[in-house]
Amino acid sequence: MTRIVKTLIGFSVAAVLASCNYSKQKEAPAGNRPGGARVQDLGPLDYATIKQTVIGPQCLSCHSNQTGNKGNLNLETYQAVRASLNRLAYRSLEKRDMPPQGLPSAETSILRAWLDSGAPETVMPGAPAEKPGAGLEVGPVSFTKIRDQIFESKCLACHAGANPAASLDLTSLSEVRNKITKIFEAVIVKQTMPIEPFPALSPKERKVLLNWIDLGMPE
Ligand code: HEC
Ligand code: HEC
Repeated sequence: MTRIVKTLIGFSVAAVLASCNYSKQKEAPAGNRPGGARVQDLGPLDYATIKQTVIGPQCLSCHSNQTGNKGNLNLETYQAVRASLNRLAYRSLEKRDMPPQGLPSAETSILRAWLDSGAPETVMPGAPAEKPGAGLEVGPVSFTKIRDQIFESKCLACHAGANPAASLDLTSLSEVRNKITKIFEAVIVKQTMPIEPFPALSPKERKVLLNWIDLGMPE
């Protein structure tokens, strides 16, 4: 067990290190650019793939130590990207002004798919990509859906059971209704929840949660 874990960690560190030299990619001939990749060709998306296809070619010319960390933002490591995930999703997918000339559509789908799958650093070799966002927009939105498809993977590790964090049990509809102002503030406005290592809500998850609140929080 331990050995498998160590092997996986070793593998991911090697993969990240191997992808660090982005300037090499910039010099690759145009026909060979990883920027031409399509999301359906890529399989399970891990951070190394995102770095190679999106962050490296599209962001590091301004957001690296070498290029001056524009906007005080460095995007060279998984930890740094992870820490700015909400702002990154907002600027690149919602406002769409990062990079300034806009992200091409293939890169947009790749980035969106990675964020929707929880922005993992690594994906277990051979395992299907985790897709907590899949099916989220199918059918009517209900508390069951919010609980099973958003809270389950992003909140319930801390906010359920006998002694939930902040005495907030997110499996209870009445409790969620009573505390919706705080939940809204923590997740949407201040974005202080969820906390590491749990990934931020994807843009799609935020949209579905907002829609459910707008509809009066139906069961
Ligand atoms: C040509 C240079 C350039 C490129 C390429 C670029 N950015 Fe930026 N970025 C900037 C500048 C300049 C700022 C600061 C001004 C602003 O916020 O608009 C900034 C700001 C940001 C911010 C806001 C930082 C904050 O703390 O609020 C985010 C997020 C961001 N960029 C993400 C990205 C991502 C993701 C990419 C690639 C997909 C990217 N940028 C590509 C120049 C660039
Ligand atoms: C890793 C554990 C963890 C995860 C995951 C997590 N929380 Fe929390 N949450 C906490 C802890 C600890 C507190 C109390 C300390 C604090 O407020 O920072 C808290 C506090 C809160 C509060 C109360 C804030 C206030 O102003 O009283 C809300 C609301 C909340 N969480 C909502 C959520 C939601 C919604 C999710 C999922 C989208 C989530 N949390 C995910 C641990 C977590």
